[in-house]
Amino acid sequence: MNIKDLYINFFKSKGHVQIPSAPVVPENDPSVLFNTAGMQPLIPYLMGEPHPSGTRLCDYQKCIRLTDLDSVGDKTHHTFFEMLGNWSLGDYFKKESIAYSYEFLTKVLHIPQNRLAITVFKGEENIPRDEESATIWKSLGISEKHIAYLGIHDNFWAAGSIGPCGTDTEIFYWRSEEEVPEVFNPEDERWVEIWNNVFMEFNRLEDGTIEPLPHKNVDTGMGYERIVSVVENVNDNYASSVWKPIIACIEKVAQKPYQGNETEMRIIADHIRTSVFIAADNVGIRPSNTDQGYILRRLIRRAIRYAKKLGIDLESNWDEQIACTIMDQYETYYQEIKDNRQTVLQVLKDEKNKFAHTLEKGLKEFDKVIEKTQQIDGQTAFHLYDTYGFPIELTVELAKEKNIPVDEKGFQEKMHEHQEKSRTASKGKFKGGLAGNGEIETKYHTATHLLNAALKQVLGIDTHQRGSNITEERMRFDFNCDHKLSEEEKRKVEDLVNKWILEDLPVTKTQMTKQEALSMGAEAMFIEKYPDIVNVYQIGDVSKEICGGPHVTHTKELGKFKITKEEASSAGIRRIKAVLEHTP
Ligand code: SER
Repeated sequence: MNIKDLYINFFKSKGHVQIPSAPVVPENDPSVLFNTAGMQPLIPYLMGEPHPSGTRLCDYQKCIRLTDLDSVGDKTHHTFFEMLGNWSLGDYFKKESIAYSYEFLTKVLHIPQNRLAITVFKGEENIPRDEESATIWKSLGISEKHIAYLGIHDNFWAAGSIGPCGTDTEIFYWRSEEEVPEVFNPEDERWVEIWNNVFMEFNRLEDGTIEPLPHKNVDTGMGYERIVSVVENVNDNYASSVWKPIIACIEKVAQKPYQGNETEMRIIADHIRTSVFIAADNVGIRPSNTDQGYILRRLIRRAIRYAKKLGIDLESNWDEQIACTIMDQYETYYQEIKDNRQTVLQVLKDEKNKFAHTLEKGLKEFDKVIEKTQQIDGQTAFHLYDTYGFPIELTVELAKEKNIPVDEKGFQEKMHEHQEKSRTASKGKFKGGLAGNGEIETKYHTATHLLNAALKQVLGIDTHQRGSNITEERMRFDFNCDHKLSEEEKRKVEDLVNKWILEDLPVTKTQMTKQEALSMGAEAMFIEKYPDIVNVYQIGDVSKEICGGPHVTHTKELGKFKITKEEASSAGIRRIKAVLEHTP
């Protein structure tokens, strides 16, 4: 049986409720482009809000970590991964959490106990040493010599600079043919981390101080790809059953063996897989020059470049074959992969058609330039971007292979001149860290529901939200619509939202089953994401939406709503940017 199923069944047998994976794009956290951990969609509940599915939860969550993008090509890195997670929201704490992890690893996956080693928090910065966890591990039979005490850097976990956090205990596995050492040395890379149990009992505030959360939580995360490679005893992640069919397909389309072509094949496998998951997400990300769309573009274009390097005929349907192999593997786990199969193939094909022929010309241009000069200046990098569609990262990578520098700053300046507005809007997003559910964001969140309702009244009931993004400065809202909004339509939408704000409508929250919510006509954006019991936010009688919140309690708090921009987002999708003015 697949380890995902074993994991979910195990935690269900311990009273946990399985919750569906959230989309790869966080719904209301503008500070990160993608979910990077299983806990991210659960932040409001770790902070104290009751979760509709109870206090014991488990799932597998689609995650994307871009920090690993440049390392892809080696044996271990990939940009997309699934994180197996279980949570206690103020329910059990260290004792049960550690015992569950131990039982799953040794009894379900049959990992020999002596191949496991543990780190616990040694005590630092006024947070006490975690003797409790060490004692629990020893009571289960872990040798004292296989327990290491480490500091804040290793055994304290937080998703960002603010928000829920806590000390953790990490479980390591001895991945080597050599005999297991008697004493655990966490510096020895043959010990690989497989599971992280975080005891989330604190909230870190903006000024860096730490306060206790309303209740003590457990947040655990185990990387699926890694645990599979451990259980299957392979020392190249890409040789495990997760990647084998994908690599085999690439061998077939390239008519070359994996051996000797590992780097290229791993990059293609990883990048196409991540692109499939981004494009399949119901939020509707398409290749573009900003935000998530830019990442999608970069990944597809980099895969195309490596496919060319491998000698794959770019005109053939190689991309389709690889994507289908990937989707065959995941569609039983992710409904959106099943539903959006054709869309994914179309996205890949369109991007390939855009890039494949300019790649050839661009590479020639690149070679011509470096014959003459020993560096790529900003203007040239921008020319490669603008005329041949080379993401700057591609130019940098090509230049690195020839050992020549690129004036990236000069490129950014050219870029800035070219499209000042859209860049400034997206830049902050690459910084990472956690968004506040601050007062202003909360207001924008409620305004999003009003805008959604107003668009339906003005443009028709088939108008639905396709994406949203909130910062302290503005809201952005994507929706399906086949035309540019007229001035009159925009004014009508604005007027409606402002009318509802002035009516000071009450905002109420009700818990109900997903079925009840849908049959009462509640607006739902990401059907696949919702658990069986959901929160429905109602605003007077103008809006009903399934939503995690938070929201204001009365609409008058919003101030004045103003549309600042209406533009195309992608085919059939329009985008509105709006602000709230004079908020009291
Ligand atoms: N949040 C922790 C991690 O990502 C445990 O799930 O490692």
